[in-house]
Amino acid sequence: MNATGEDCRVTAAELARRKGGTPIVCLTAYTAPVAKILDGHAELLLVGDSLGMVIYGFDSTRGVTLDMMIAHGDAVVRATRRACVVVDLPFGSYEASPAQACETAARVVAETGCAAVKIEGGAALAETVRVLAAEGVAVMGHVGLRPQAVPEGGRFRVHGRDAAEAEQVRADARAIAEAGAFSVVLENVVEPLARTITAEIPAPTIGIGASPACDGQILVTDDMAGMFTAFTPRFVKRYADLAGELDRAAHAYAEDVRARRFPAPEHCTPAPKEADGAG
Ligand code: KIV
Repeated sequence: MNATGEDCRVTAAELARRKGGTPIVCLTAYTAPVAKILDGHAELLLVGDSLGMVIYGFDSTRGVTLDMMIAHGDAVVRATRRACVVVDLPFGSYEASPAQACETAARVVAETGCAAVKIEGGAALAETVRVLAAEGVAVMGHVGLRPQAVPEGGRFRVHGRDAAEAEQVRADARAIAEAGAFSVVLENVVEPLARTITAEIPAPTIGIGASPACDGQILVTDDMAGMFTAFTPRFVKRYADLAGELDRAAHAYAEDVRARRFPAPEHCTPAPKEADGAG
């Protein structure tokens, strides 16, 4: 809300109209303090199920539950004022039928207040996107590399290297966009394919390991800020070394504690002076 009580959040519909315009800045956010910092910089914050690997230390995104997504989505929405917050529907919570997807999306939107949900999948989920859109739920699609399709220990590989697979990714993006998705994430696809898809679908494409031609870009914040270092995909650009900073801070704290330099007098509460206590 702004001073006059108007809602000043970026809406999914506004982002949809940004097709071909200034690139849309997107990042992931999972917690309130981080979301608060990012809110002034990104127009879209995704509560991605990548939180399973980044926050919970899982080997894949498949163990993420709906309750986890709702708890983190709620925290991110409460901490932000401006960004369009999108919450991932986790593995197993929407694929069975449009009715299952509607039930899950309704819970996510009602319990978090998010603006939209994201689902992974292509042509096979077009009907689900159509039904969700008709129910007034804004949907972000996700094609190319779909982490939920990669089993535990599986490889996150580049998609679209051979002609048949490229055609499949193209058809998936087209089907989802034509079904009414307000935007489509293209993950880990070869550059010319991302460029082609961006030129031919009506919805903005949001690239991650895709192409500068996409209508927007997203990175996992913990990758971009150097906080998640278990592995770094080739497409990530590191803008900070937060893990290194935290390591240095923890080292300095440990040294201070062992040397009794912390807490110093200014961190301690002195006994009340006698006059103060006289009441
Ligand atoms: O879960 C996630 O963070 C995502 C982005 C990488 C697009 O889906």
